[in-house]
Amino acid sequence: MGDLAGADRAAALRLREAFLDAGFTADGLLTMLGSSAYAALGRGEGVPARRALQDRHGADAELARLFVLGDDVERSDAARHLPLDDLLTLGLVGGGATLRSLVDVRPYGESDTDWYVVSDHGPDSAGRDVEEVAVDHVLGVGGASLTLARITPRAEVGRALDLGTGCGVQALHLGRHARSVVATDRNRRALRLAAITAALSGQEWDLREGSLFEPVGAETFDLVVSNPPFVISPGHRYTYRDAGLPADDLGRLLVQQAPARLDDGGTAVVLANWLHVRGADWRDRVASWVEGTGCDAWVAQREVQDPAEYVGLWLRDAGGHRDDAEARAEYERRYAQWLDELRAMDAEGIGFGWVVLHRGGTYGAQGPRVEDVAPAPRLPRGDEVASLVAARAGWASWDAFALLDSRPRRVPGLRLVAEERTDGVGVLGAVPSRVGLVDGWRRDVLLDTIGVELVRCFDGATTLSAAVGSVAAAYAVDPDDVLPGALLAVRGLVEDGLLTLG
Ligand SMILES: C[S@@+](CC[C@H](N)C(=O)[O-])C[C@H]1O[C@@H](n2cnc3c(N)ncnc32)[C@H](O)[C@@H]1O
Repeated sequence: MGDLAGADRAAALRLREAFLDAGFTADGLLTMLGSSAYAALGRGEGVPARRALQDRHGADAELARLFVLGDDVERSDAARHLPLDDLLTLGLVGGGATLRSLVDVRPYGESDTDWYVVSDHGPDSAGRDVEEVAVDHVLGVGGASLTLARITPRAEVGRALDLGTGCGVQALHLGRHARSVVATDRNRRALRLAAITAALSGQEWDLREGSLFEPVGAETFDLVVSNPPFVISPGHRYTYRDAGLPADDLGRLLVQQAPARLDDGGTAVVLANWLHVRGADWRDRVASWVEGTGCDAWVAQREVQDPAEYVGLWLRDAGGHRDDAEARAEYERRYAQWLDELRAMDAEGIGFGWVVLHRGGTYGAQGPRVEDVAPAPRLPRGDEVASLVAARAGWASWDAFALLDSRPRRVPGLRLVAEERTDGVGVLGAVPSRVGLVDGWRRDVLLDTIGVELVRCFDGATTLSAAVGSVAAAYAVDPDDVLPGALLAVRGLVEDGLLTLG
């Protein structure tokens, strides 16, 4: 379902060759436009790129005009430089004497790949004045897509699933390290565009239509990723954004249904939004999604928005901010309706983040790790996420006695910061010390005095019990009073990637 038929596939493969021959690649585009105009495109500003292309003719410039800027191109110019029949066969362009692109085709890739992502022109497209997107709008690569692509572990795997593939960006990344990729979507149009993305990028996926896990039944995977329509919104206005489920049920359902689709040792990475309900702790809400799934889990919140911020963000995202009285009235009506809906849910905020599930390890016996990671210096990379998940899963083989005999070692690049600050009258005093990684992705962890001394002992030769003994002696306290905190601290520091256990 959604795969390209013979003639379309052949056309896409010829187009790939033509695009590559023309130098219509991410690197080629950067060279052709220059870094400033290229960066402006990312902000939806096409003027610098148009100026850069002004006197340029040839296949690369025509392709950039048509598909990146969304500008009209004379058919005769296009025919001179481009395989027009193939573009028409695939429905990428339309029109008569003047051609228009019907979709956005964007060179995209990792440093050593040349891929093409096919999506609809959106309100942020440089060349199109899209007033408001259609219900079945297929989103291009956005901030959330890049977040998920970055945090997904990239070890070689067998079977991978991209749930809600849209333009196919996650499937492209999966195609590099998974032997087979299944990509699903509820939007048939998305599947057609994803099929073109795959063929233009030289990949093959098993594309399936349907909602949530329905298209894969009881099949299992080594890796499941999803950037789903997580927006907590009234009704179902846009398929790319609204699941049409109450409140944050989409995140809950995905998190609860994913474990049954994971092979032993498998991992799922799901982006989600969750409610902050007045009088309740958001951590308990999201932890309750994960509990009982039999998976070790990590829930990270990277941002919280208040209801007005949230509604404003998503109303702008879909366009529809035409500057006339009728459009303004409609915008205000939708804004108020959405706020009413959030108020009815008792929402005082909405959290943005991700849930990582791992089947194996302690099989969820230790409960999920749920934390606020904002404001972090940067997003974690997939390998950093994989290390955290492996450390959590690893507790299956470390009981308290084994841990006491372990020899924790500080990792290279660890930084221990002891600070003094002045108080209101300028007197210097010590504040809690911090430990973190030089160039690490998360905020430093605060340590108490005992914690600092333990970290100083963790040279890879000293056992944890010896470290506890010497710190307790130095501070004249009972080792049994130090022990529980030390065990907890070591677990946290190992998961944070600051210690290894030997
Ligand atoms: C935010 S877009 C993400 C697209 C792409 N994977 C990315 O990372 O940019 C969400 C996608 O989920 C699809 N979708 C919406 N509801 C769905 C459902 N119930 N089941 C599966 N996919 C769904 C939408 O059509 C859309 O393509």
